[in-house]
Amino acid sequence: MEAAAGFISRAGRGIENPILEQGGSARELERQGGKLIMINIGDPGIYFRMPRNIAWAFKKAVDEGHTNYLREQGLEELREAVSDRYKGLYGIEFSGDDVVITQGVSEALSFMNQAMIDPGDAAVIFRPFFTEYLTYLKLSGGVAILPPLDEKRGWDISIGELDDALRSHAGKRPKYMLITNPNNPTGTVLSEKAIREAIEIAKDNDMFVVSDEVYDELLYNGAAFTSVGKLAKGIPHLLLNGASKNYMSTGLRIGFAIFPEQDTKTQALKRTFIGMAGARLSANTPSQYAMLEGLRNTAKHQEFIREKAAQIASQSVHAARLVNETGFLTTVQPNSAFYLFARIHLDKLSLRDDREFVELLLREQKVQLTRGSGFGMPGFIRIVTLPSEAVLTEAIRRIKRFCEDHQR
Ligand SMILES: Cc1ncc(COP(=O)(O)O)c(C=O)c1O
Repeated sequence: MEAAAGFISRAGRGIENPILEQGGSARELERQGGKLIMINIGDPGIYFRMPRNIAWAFKKAVDEGHTNYLREQGLEELREAVSDRYKGLYGIEFSGDDVVITQGVSEALSFMNQAMIDPGDAAVIFRPFFTEYLTYLKLSGGVAILPPLDEKRGWDISIGELDDALRSHAGKRPKYMLITNPNNPTGTVLSEKAIREAIEIAKDNDMFVVSDEVYDELLYNGAAFTSVGKLAKGIPHLLLNGASKNYMSTGLRIGFAIFPEQDTKTQALKRTFIGMAGARLSANTPSQYAMLEGLRNTAKHQEFIREKAAQIASQSVHAARLVNETGFLTTVQPNSAFYLFARIHLDKLSLRDDREFVELLLREQKVQLTRGSGFGMPGFIRIVTLPSEAVLTEAIRRIKRFCEDHQR
């Protein structure tokens, strides 16, 4: 064991994914019988079939022999289609040359940290955050500055908290500020005002801005989404998006890294991404053809997203109501993506923390979800609202019973 610990790098030893935690116990419980409810994985591919036209285009690409490596930067037509998408949706202009196709947003997050972070460098990541952000930052030896989002204002950015976090950071100037909008795990969008102010702070502190917008079309309850690309004109930034959420095609592993500005930093980062993309030769070729169809066929996509967003909205609103009725948990009303982030009122329970909550919940009620501390926010849980209303109802009924069993 000790020899292995010395063999694996320090960074490698620290890797964890709180979303997949307890997978072994969950499988063991299933083997023993009884229906396990998993509301821990935000993979729409498990619950919805990917759009038929995208699946068809994937098969066609294979049949037609598009199974070779593509240019490291990605299929030119696909990069142009990404540019058309942002222009069509938000009026943001950049060329296909300013896009790099990655193997999911995940790979872009990995490239981004390898490209910008040397050991000891800092980055600003708002919490609660998507788990991978910290994983990749840490793999590069980086240090996180973690201002909390404001639960009381629908998980919007708190400029006061951002200022405080920057002021109390003693080390070097942070390299980048990472914004997630809409947010995983909170299921909410940021206000235009807060984004504007945060970007100004980034500019004043010479921080590069990164915006992960992978859920930007999954909106409901009147949510108004503003792309950072619209507000950060003239400020060095990177936009991230992809196939996984809006197109519910997680298995394609396609991400878009977009470098809309022509300043030295943004373009140097783009060149480094292309270099890294070259080091792994090519993103998945049939997937790039499949995504090209997904982006070009806007009529099919509009129909698909309208229907799916409506279904997710109704499931999420239903689940939020039930959570708020438990008497032990409260959640902000979600308006995007497919998550609820609920506060556990630990003062009413004889449980230590969110970790004990999720571990005992799985054992006693066979419901698997993710602890808030995994997203940098102890005392909360994340519920994925992709399962049907019936499944969510049963899951929250079990959670309520669990809380009653552990009432103080
Ligand atoms: C905010 C956010 N960004 C990125 C990803 C990963 O996306 P991809 O499947 O494109 O790697 C996820 C997945 O859950 C996510 O929630």
